[in-house]
Amino acid sequence: MCGIVGYIGEQDAKEILLKGLERLEYRGYDSAGIAVRNSAGITVFKEKGRIADLRAEVNGDVEAVTGIGHTRWATHGVPNHVNAHPHQSVTERFTIVHNGVIENYHHLQRDYLQGVSMKSDTDTEIVVQLIEKFSSEGLTTKEAFTKTLELLKGSYAIALMDAEEAQTIYVAKNKSPLLVGLGENFNVVASDAMAMLQVTDQFVELMDKEIVIVRKENVDIYTLGGDRIDRDPFTAQIDMSDIEKGTYPHYMLKEIDEQPAVVRKIIQAYQNEQDELAIEPEVLEALQQADRLYIVAAGTSYHAGLIGKEYLEKLAKIPVEVHIASEFGYNMPLLSERPLFIFISQSGETADSRQVLVKVKDLGHPALTITNVAGSTLSREADYTLLLHAGPEIAVASTKAYTAQLAVLSILSAVAAKAKGLDIGFDLEQELSIAANAIQAQVDDKENMENIAREYLETTRNCFFIGRNLDYYVGLEGALKLKEISYIQAEGFAGGELKHGTIALIEEGTPVIALATQEAVNLNIRGNVKEVVARGANPCIISMAGHAEDEDRLVLPAVHELLAPIVSVVPLQLISYYAALHRGCDVDKPRNLAKSVTVE
Ligand code: F6R
Repeated sequence: MCGIVGYIGEQDAKEILLKGLERLEYRGYDSAGIAVRNSAGITVFKEKGRIADLRAEVNGDVEAVTGIGHTRWATHGVPNHVNAHPHQSVTERFTIVHNGVIENYHHLQRDYLQGVSMKSDTDTEIVVQLIEKFSSEGLTTKEAFTKTLELLKGSYAIALMDAEEAQTIYVAKNKSPLLVGLGENFNVVASDAMAMLQVTDQFVELMDKEIVIVRKENVDIYTLGGDRIDRDPFTAQIDMSDIEKGTYPHYMLKEIDEQPAVVRKIIQAYQNEQDELAIEPEVLEALQQADRLYIVAAGTSYHAGLIGKEYLEKLAKIPVEVHIASEFGYNMPLLSERPLFIFISQSGETADSRQVLVKVKDLGHPALTITNVAGSTLSREADYTLLLHAGPEIAVASTKAYTAQLAVLSILSAVAAKAKGLDIGFDLEQELSIAANAIQAQVDDKENMENIAREYLETTRNCFFIGRNLDYYVGLEGALKLKEISYIQAEGFAGGELKHGTIALIEEGTPVIALATQEAVNLNIRGNVKEVVARGANPCIISMAGHAEDEDRLVLPAVHELLAPIVSVVPLQLISYYAALHRGCDVDKPRNLAKSVTVE
């Protein structure tokens, strides 16, 4: 949420910053800005809207080799020109960009900045005004920045420029991600390595409560207490082609299409030298020590967690609870004696999940993170990590990360079962390969998906997804996908629950997408379809070969029932994609949203 960049070197800073912001646009896209420094001082360009709008605003004649930039997802203050970053102090000596939320900004304003008139409604402006206040009291910029950071409560990734110090960008972070990238005669700052891959693949990870002085020739990291820290850089393992759209009109479509390959890659990544599916022994040991697993996640990852519970309980026979992260931290249930926490997160940066991780670590419980991003906060701070190997997911609506989460959870469950001496009764590797082929059949059937979207969703104002058992959970994910990108009011329901209230919403023509992949409840869900049809609904049944019927709109190839969600979610993703497209929505960057939700 919000992305920041910085550059100090010898090339045109404007272009490097703008390109970097374009790569970070997934983190927020309601306004953006850059500040560049040259001998005339600091010039700020900012604009409401997308980076393309900012680009049009930037004066190409301003030459500068140093600058910072920001793309925003508004938290404090509406998205407009004034609230867009960078923000400047009263005298305009200091300029900052900030990602995160300063929780005590009201108190800081009251205690330290009485009489200072604020230009914006943002929490960020308080930070830059504090730096100026402390500097005007005689502190050096580093001291004033440090003193300010010590007062802040909340999350931040900050880049700061001082008009009186041409050779330096100051940066610091707490809870929000931030990296420094290294180059020959230049250095950069970015919320995500992706933003600066255009100039370097060498990055240094920053830790919370460090202050970093970035110059053209060197980068110095200090603790807030002033101790110098040496840290080796790492090479970012991201291929440029992974982050380009190529010939696809949208990242979402590209990422949907990548799903068969992602499942195959996961199979390979989790094979040991004997070509058997394997998980690190420490993770298996932690699972065996636990008397109960607590899966904590948000949004799509939470939906994957619901299915993960079924896998872990059915295959490995370990009791599991699944919790919404934003609820769990502030209303913790009674925990078992030996809990193991499993955090599922595509980005590994979700603040709601992180606040739970911090609390459970304080309580002394072990934690495993399942994430797509190696080195992410949730990965670093947990005891163990399992990677998704899905490649960067850029569209805001999560697709391939969800299927990857299911594949990894199935492997974890099957391997844990084997470690306990349990026979799961099927060859998971073979079944995952069959599922990958079945996904391929779905992505190859786009015309059909587009027709379904046209037929059912072109003019509707709402849509229901129903299912039972695993299909219910996939329905929740299908509904989330549809609503977030097409803005159609969509809800997922357990098929048997409709008659307890929801069926009142069914009107003539209401689309009801019914999933029927689970044999044990096949007749029950078909009975529920009859109930809604009797009240005027327009049903779209998605079933699986083996128990399909003539009335079904889409019949998926047969896969192992437990893996049906990995396949059945794909038509729902595609139908949502086409529904959004037909309605003229911005598929990759839906309104009000951002990827990587780093505020609670
Ligand atoms: C929906 C979506 C979100 C995320 C949620 C958690 O398409 O992407 O619901 O799943 O914000 O994000 P992660 O998985 O990064 O923790």
